[in-house]
Amino acid sequence: MDSNNGHDDDTAPITAHILEKKRRKRRALKIGLYIIAGIVALGVFSVWLLHKDSIEAIRFGQGFLLSVKLRSLEIKNQRGENVLYGDLGSDLLATPYDHCWDITYEFYEDSCLQWRDKARLKVIKDDNLTSPCYTFHWEGLVPDFTIEDCFYLQGYSWYGYVTNTTDPWPILDLRLEERDYSKEYPLEQTEHIVPIWFGSQGVVIFVDSGHPFGISWNHTDKRQLCISSKPQQQVYFKPLNVLHYTVCQGKSIKDVYTVSRRHRLQKDTHAFSEQNQQQHIMPNPIYAIPTKEELPQLLDLMRRNESQCSLIELFDDWEGEYGNLSVDASISELLQDVILEAANQDCYLVLPVSPFFSYKSQHFKEGISKNYFIRDRQNLVTRMVKWRDHEGAVLDVSNSKALDWFVDHIRELIDHLGVISLKLLTVTLPPDSRFLDFNVSQLDYPRLFHRAMSTLNISLTLEFTSGFITAPVYIPIHMNFFKNSGYNCLNTSIPYSLVMGLSGYPLLTADIDEMVSSSTTDEMLELWIKVAIFFPQLKIPCTQLFYNNTMQELLQEALDLRSITLLPYLSQVWQEDPHLPIIRPMWWISPDDPVSRSINDQFLVGDKMLVAPVLCERTQRRVVYLPKGTWRGDDMKLIKGPKTIEVNVIDSNIALYFWREDSGNTESNN
Ligand SMILES: *[C@@H]1O[C@H](CO)[C@@H](O)[C@H](O)[C@H]1NC(C)=O
Ligand SMILES: *[C@@H]1O[C@H](CO)[C@@H](O)[C@H](O)[C@H]1NC(C)=O
Ligand SMILES: *[C@@H]1O[C@H](CO)[C@@H](O)[C@H](O)[C@H]1NC(C)=O
Ligand SMILES: *[C@@H]1O[C@H](CO)[C@@H](O)[C@H](O)[C@H]1NC(C)=O
Ligand SMILES: *[C@@H]1O[C@H](CO)[C@@H](O)[C@H](O)[C@H]1NC(C)=O
Ligand SMILES: *[C@@H]1O[C@H](CO)[C@@H](O)[C@H](O)[C@H]1NC(C)=O
Ligand SMILES: *[C@@H]1O[C@H](CO)[C@@H](O)[C@H](O)[C@H]1NC(C)=O
Ligand SMILES: *[C@@H]1O[C@H](CO)[C@@H](O)[C@H](O)[C@H]1NC(C)=O
Ligand SMILES: *[C@@H]1O[C@H](CO)[C@@H](O)[C@H](O)[C@H]1NC(C)=O
Repeated sequence: MDSNNGHDDDTAPITAHILEKKRRKRRALKIGLYIIAGIVALGVFSVWLLHKDSIEAIRFGQGFLLSVKLRSLEIKNQRGENVLYGDLGSDLLATPYDHCWDITYEFYEDSCLQWRDKARLKVIKDDNLTSPCYTFHWEGLVPDFTIEDCFYLQGYSWYGYVTNTTDPWPILDLRLEERDYSKEYPLEQTEHIVPIWFGSQGVVIFVDSGHPFGISWNHTDKRQLCISSKPQQQVYFKPLNVLHYTVCQGKSIKDVYTVSRRHRLQKDTHAFSEQNQQQHIMPNPIYAIPTKEELPQLLDLMRRNESQCSLIELFDDWEGEYGNLSVDASISELLQDVILEAANQDCYLVLPVSPFFSYKSQHFKEGISKNYFIRDRQNLVTRMVKWRDHEGAVLDVSNSKALDWFVDHIRELIDHLGVISLKLLTVTLPPDSRFLDFNVSQLDYPRLFHRAMSTLNISLTLEFTSGFITAPVYIPIHMNFFKNSGYNCLNTSIPYSLVMGLSGYPLLTADIDEMVSSSTTDEMLELWIKVAIFFPQLKIPCTQLFYNNTMQELLQEALDLRSITLLPYLSQVWQEDPHLPIIRPMWWISPDDPVSRSINDQFLVGDKMLVAPVLCERTQRRVVYLPKGTWRGDDMKLIKGPKTIEVNVIDSNIALYFWREDSGNTESNN
């Protein structure tokens, strides 16, 4: 019908009525439509809400819960006890979040979360282990955003390296505002830095040091350990801000060591290879020649048959000019004599090598012309670096041609000089250096350099280590004395050695070379020797100090003990399981014993030997704690632990140590 009919007067009221009806119908329809639309919208909204609800938490089994809204992390052990509690991403505040959308596969990733425009977090559970490891991978999406995750220390004992001035065993009374690893590490590296911390409840936290990060401990007030990201410099394809760390959990603190080490081995494509098993425990000391002036003395010693060495470590600047890759002409003949004389006595050379090429060196020009060196920030020219007061360039370890070139030169030197071991020197690099592989940054350098040199199939020592290397490599432990109420004490050496062992470096070298000076007394050297003989390797500086007759006698006596008693045992410990530390903390054999957990002046060698060295000058008595088990001392008497005894150390001859006869676990396990 047409509405134009409405001009007829008679039909007017009727038409109006019909029209009114139609209008009402339409209105009802409209309202109905609105209602349906509303219901649909509500449905969509509730589905969305439900979807939101589904990411209230990330869970793995019964033990792992990350509450997304609160960003709180809870990890429980099998007994349901809370072993780790953490606050994650404190800077995110109330930013909306969602699952991450995977563009390649077009789906939401369950264990990945994105806080809009700010950051994303991916949690990966390592399922292939009896005990779980969780990896947290944070990426900041804006440059000025800092990721910070804090963990509560609770009442547990924590172990790991923090600074070289704190007594780290266990970490106590510490308030470290922030240690910035992007600045200090490895720019001014003067010590080993391996970011791993163990908690006595059976957890371990370790950070991937391929990205800059910061760490702070608030042990005194907040009782927290916080790790945070630092902006990355100038590396293409890499996100600006990355924090990558792993938390592993085990039945005990000892168990979690094995779990975390296995996790790293599985992740490392360049893992422990059997070919390198040939590295062993060295029977005799390494003779270190600090400068070329000591060479004639060493030759003299060799000729008198008075030396007793396994290795001779050459001074770092044996090239005369870093990067000449040949022996300094002025010492070439003398060195040849030393090498010949030493080889007669089964003693061979350790050659320090660095990837640094001084601009005056023979190979600098060739390296420049072939682009073998690290470039500047704009990738325009070779980056000049200052290292040990020399100006020069640094080998680009991401360039395979450059590596082949370098490795060939080193191989020649190895054959020519009868070298059986290399010491890799640490070169400091500016953070904005550019590599051929844009994905590589200066933080990857030590790992890549080690990897390249390990193709030489020769035993390696790292001057300083940073991060994790799963292949066996020697690490020097610099043992320093501290003045303590007038007497010199060898304080931090034991905790430092224990921490490095737990960090995955069993092959420790007891090193004293930095300490040797005119103020070092014979008594101090004596204290040091009595600790050092228990280490896989010990290094003695060839200086006047050690040519003294009394010193020679003492050294001889100590080395006799080492070769007769200790060496077979040390080799056995290493061969039984080369993945375990050789120098072990007291809690290794008694993880539930609270006394063992706090002992920082004794250590175990393997599981069967306990060493309680005298650490301070003029000490007459020392207290020794013997944990559960039966112990046999020098006097053959058996002592049943746990027991604290006091020993008169003036009477004891070489060193104070005990053998464990049985584990004392016969009546009750665990
Ligand atoms: C788990 O580990 C074992 C031995 O380490 C290995 O053989 C196996 O392939 C691994 N399985 C997975 C799924 O990664
Ligand atoms: C501690 O490290 C700093 C640099 O980080 C270094 O200068 C200092 O000599 C070290 N101290 C000891 C006792 O090793
Ligand atoms: C350590 O804790 C105290 C007290 O809670 C707090 O005032 C201080 O800012 C914390 N320090 C750090 C570095 O977090
Ligand atoms: C040094 O020892 C070697 C073999 O042990 C021997 O042949 C040589 O005569 C000795 N030299 C001296 C000077 O005693
Ligand atoms: C290093 O090599 C350069 C160039 O061959 C040479 O002139 C210089 O004498 C060498 N330096 C030493 C200390 O041998
Ligand atoms: C660098 O990393 C990115 C992303 O991880 C990758 O796509 C790219 O191929 C890498 N480039 C090189 C040269 O390895
Ligand atoms: C490495 O050297 C050892 C002996 O020193 C040898 O048995 C082994 O075959 C070598 N491995 C490779 C891959 O060259
Ligand atoms: C060294 O040890 C002594 C005794 O155990 C202790 O009093 C002193 O504080 C320690 N010194 C350092 C620097 O750790
Ligand atoms: C050698 O040791 C003795 C005893 O410790 C000492 O009296 C003497 O000064 C030392 N000689 C040298 C040259 O160091």
